Amino acid sequence: MPDHDYIAPDPQTRTLHVGSYRRVLPVSLERMYENTLDWEHLPHLHDSSFRSINCLDSGAWGWRAEVVDHKAQVSELELRLDRSRRRWITRNVSGPSEGAEIWTLVSPLAEHQIEIVVDFFVPGVPAEAKEKVGRAYAKAYTTLYDEDEAMMVARQRHLDQRVEGSRDSELLVGVATELAQRQVVAFRGREYVVCRDPQASYEVDNAKAWLAFPALCPHQLGPLADAEVVDGAVRCPWHGYQFDARTGANLSGQACRFTQVPQLVARAGQLYLVASERTT
Ligand code: FES
Repeated sequence: MPDHDYIAPDPQTRTLHVGSYRRVLPVSLERMYENTLDWEHLPHLHDSSFRSINCLDSGAWGWRAEVVDHKAQVSELELRLDRSRRRWITRNVSGPSEGAEIWTLVSPLAEHQIEIVVDFFVPGVPAEAKEKVGRAYAKAYTTLYDEDEAMMVARQRHLDQRVEGSRDSELLVGVATELAQRQVVAFRGREYVVCRDPQASYEVDNAKAWLAFPALCPHQLGPLADAEVVDGAVRCPWHGYQFDARTGANLSGQACRFTQVPQLVARAGQLYLVASERTT
C-alpha cells in the first residue's frame, strides 16, 4: 500500500521544468476531479496514447497504476490529488520517463468553467532541448484534454438533461418493415437504441430480430447510441465496459449492467417497446 499522505515532490524537480500548458475548460470542478481520479478511461478514451492500464491502488487520494503506452512501453504512474490546493501531480514512478512529473493546478472561473495550468518537469533534458520537449508535452496534453473535455461536457449534459417522451406503458416504435436499422427513441424518461440484431435470422417483423438497450451507459452515462453490437455485445467507448445487448448482463467483469430495459413486442407488423418491471 502506498503512503496516501500528500508528499510534495523533491524541490529539485522545479529545476527540471520544460514547459507549461494552459487551458480554459467548460466544465465544473466536480467533473474535473472526477476525470482526474478516473484512471479507468485512459486506454479507452485516450487509445492513441495508452494501450492498457492495471490499477494497483486507488482512492480519494488518487491512484497508482501500471500503464502500457502506444509504443508498448510499460510505466508505473502515480497521481496524487490535493483538493485543498486544487492541484494534482502525476509522477512517473518507473518506465522510460521515470522521474518526470506533471503538476496541474485548477482554478474555478464560473460554475461550469475552470482554468488549468499544467507544468511539465522532466529529468535529463539538456537546456537546449527543453523548449522542444516542453512543446511535445503540451501537444500531447492538448489531445488528451480535447478528449477529456468532450467526455466531461457530454457527461454533464446527460446529467442535466431531462428526457421527455411517452409515460405510457408502451410505445409504438414503428412498422417493422419500414424502420431504419437503428433508431434512438425516448420512452418513460430514458432513451433507448432499437436496432436490428446482426446475429438474428428472424424476419424483420419478428421482435426477436431486434434489440433494445439504453442509449447511455449505466456506468457514467457514456454514449451507446452509436455503439456497434459485435457478437451480441455493446462496448462503451469511455471505459470499455461491455454489456450483453439482449440480456443487459455485464460481460467485462464490473458490477453495473443494463436495468429495466423495456421489452420489444411485435404486433401485426408493428414494433413496440413495452415497459418491463423486471431487471433485464
Ligand atoms: S461510461 Fe464508463 S463504461 Fe460506459
